[in-house]
Amino acid sequence: MLRERLGDRISEEELSMVRRSFEVIGDIVIVDIPDEIYHLKDEIVKAILEKHRHVKTILRKVGEVSGDYRVANYEVIYGRETETIAKEHGCKFLLDPTKVYYSVKLSGERERIFRLVKPGERVLVMFAGVGPFAITMAKNAQPKEVVGVELNPEAVRYFRENVRLNKLENVKVYEGDVREVVPRLEGKFDRILMPSPNNAQEFADVAAIKAKPGTTIHYYTFAGVEEEKELPGRVEELFSPYLKGKATFVRRCGNFAPYVHRYVVDLVVEDVFV
Ligand SMILES: C[S@@+](CC[C@H](N)C(=O)[O-])C[C@H]1O[C@@H](n2cnc3c(N)ncnc32)[C@H](O)[C@@H]1O
Repeated sequence: MLRERLGDRISEEELSMVRRSFEVIGDIVIVDIPDEIYHLKDEIVKAILEKHRHVKTILRKVGEVSGDYRVANYEVIYGRETETIAKEHGCKFLLDPTKVYYSVKLSGERERIFRLVKPGERVLVMFAGVGPFAITMAKNAQPKEVVGVELNPEAVRYFRENVRLNKLENVKVYEGDVREVVPRLEGKFDRILMPSPNNAQEFADVAAIKAKPGTTIHYYTFAGVEEEKELPGRVEELFSPYLKGKATFVRRCGNFAPYVHRYVVDLVVEDVFV
């Protein structure tokens, strides 16, 4: 569609950049338009609107996801409103991608996790964002309780709203830095998620405080393809001052940059030393 509309005014490389970044969140489309083809912006907008008729707003990504809150900068190139409702695995998520992190591309990983959750589990989701891991699991599995901790006040506001929107009573939301909030939580957890691949490595000691033998930790990290084989050993090593764990599973669950991917490593805890 884009190729037909833009003809030979766009190179294959530029087209692939537009396509690679393309993401639909509710009725918002996010797209990367390199500076070199910015003059084709209106054509690109038209092509998107022809294919996605329900679209209310189109955002151009003008910087990579960055900072503690993991939010990118955007330019509104069509429409005005930047708040939307994304639907995923029978759940609704109210959010504004210009203020909080949310990625549709993680929805497959969310499903893998909620299929692992056994009835009656207590689950801790560190770095919980607007609640997609916590809420899809509370809706599609039968945990006793899911506790989410998030630093970005805007994400926390949406997370609380999303718990209400999805009519859930077993999801608790805490605002703050996991380093301060998690040690104050009651008891230990059967499952701990650390879905913040850029800084999860700084919080292995915090996760360990809330783990017990049998707990599964889902640890997320960025790594190059060539590092894939070493990841299980590296994650066991990272946690080794605080707990003994066995990495039982590793997989790629998204890409970050050319040749750099997001990985998840599942670590089953055998013993805790803290
Ligand atoms: C990559 S996003 C993932 C959000 C969510 N898990 C998801 O998949 O949509 C990481 C989140 O961690 C939050 N965060 C970063 N550092 C944190 C900290 N020290 N304590 C609590 N949350 C933190 C950010 O605000 C951001 O919302």
